[in-house]
Amino acid sequence: MISTALPIQDYALLDDEECDARIIAAKARLGTRCVVLGHHYQRDEVFKHADFSGDSLKLSRDAAKSDAEYIVFCGVHFMAEVADILSRPEQIAILPDLAAGCSMADMANLAKVQKCWDELARIINVETELTPITYINSAADLKAFCGKHDGIVCTSSNARKILEWSFSKRSKVLFFPDQHLGRNTGYSMGIPLEEMLVWDFNKPMGGLTEAQIKNAKIILWKGFCSVHQVFRPEQIDNFLQRFPETKVISHPEASFEVCQRSDYIGSTEFILRTVREAEANTRWLVATELNLVNRLHEECKSQGKNVHFMSPALCMCSTMFRTDPQHLAWVLENLAEGHVINQISVPVEDARLAKKALDNMLTIN
Ligand code: 13P
Ligand code: SF4
Repeated sequence: MISTALPIQDYALLDDEECDARIIAAKARLGTRCVVLGHHYQRDEVFKHADFSGDSLKLSRDAAKSDAEYIVFCGVHFMAEVADILSRPEQIAILPDLAAGCSMADMANLAKVQKCWDELARIINVETELTPITYINSAADLKAFCGKHDGIVCTSSNARKILEWSFSKRSKVLFFPDQHLGRNTGYSMGIPLEEMLVWDFNKPMGGLTEAQIKNAKIILWKGFCSVHQVFRPEQIDNFLQRFPETKVISHPEASFEVCQRSDYIGSTEFILRTVREAEANTRWLVATELNLVNRLHEECKSQGKNVHFMSPALCMCSTMFRTDPQHLAWVLENLAEGHVINQISVPVEDARLAKKALDNMLTIN
């Protein structure tokens, strides 16, 4: 008898323990046909089921080299799109909750980026002078835009190398959607703040003058991460007054002022590695998502390390949080029964061009 897919309503009221057992059983039934990838910001109840965890760069590599028929991505929408683009055509990328987006990725869209490109083309020769770089936190059609214009994708762990690659080809960069990653990375390479200007996509010509555009090295899209913007420099100052021995470590999506006061800046994977490898009995103030910081605190406390979340307001990524054990159990049990739920499938032409921009990135690292 042919079964029909089970609806999410059948799972909504299951408690986490029951989901846990059912996820384990479904994974066992699927065996090597399915791989579960988990971003560091996932909540514990989901994260523990990941076969591979990592930052955006590591997970895109894991997706590209996986042989599994199904890639279940416990992360957000753009990550599952990258898994679909980089995997073979017969592999299927799945996002347990389709509502798990990224508010920063949503701050740029193709129509506005194309408008920006066309407006810049009135002042500079965009084809010979400007490289578009999209942060991996962006929709597939923006990666395709970069592929079409000899541009590239970057992640928080390779942004510097990607900027260096871009400047070896052309004199200017259009960087979207995260202004902070662009600014923090450019500044660490010695580019002065006056040469990194924000493009306000709601204003004609981005709110910039012709002279400003001609003088700019990096044009920064006016996007940001709502999670990382809660961190403020005064939180660091207050903490250091109480515990002056503290090392401060921040994700580059945090503001320039926070990153300038930090001892270390890097991706989620970098943050984990740096704190794990640090000497015992050290104290850390961390500016990134709460689930990661809590897990790191638990993991490191046996070494006498104190790991603190930077903001007094506890702030997790609400879209990452949408992936709960109920949705994971739902997609896995349906897969085990032969029903594909929540497949992420990028249109062919977008996927081809986006892959160009992703491959440019992956060959650099
Ligand atoms: P990384 O894990 O690549 O550092 O990025 C963090 C992030 O913003 C995920 O949305
Ligand atoms: Fe997007 Fe920020 Fe959440 Fe990362 S932490 S997924 S950038 S909203």
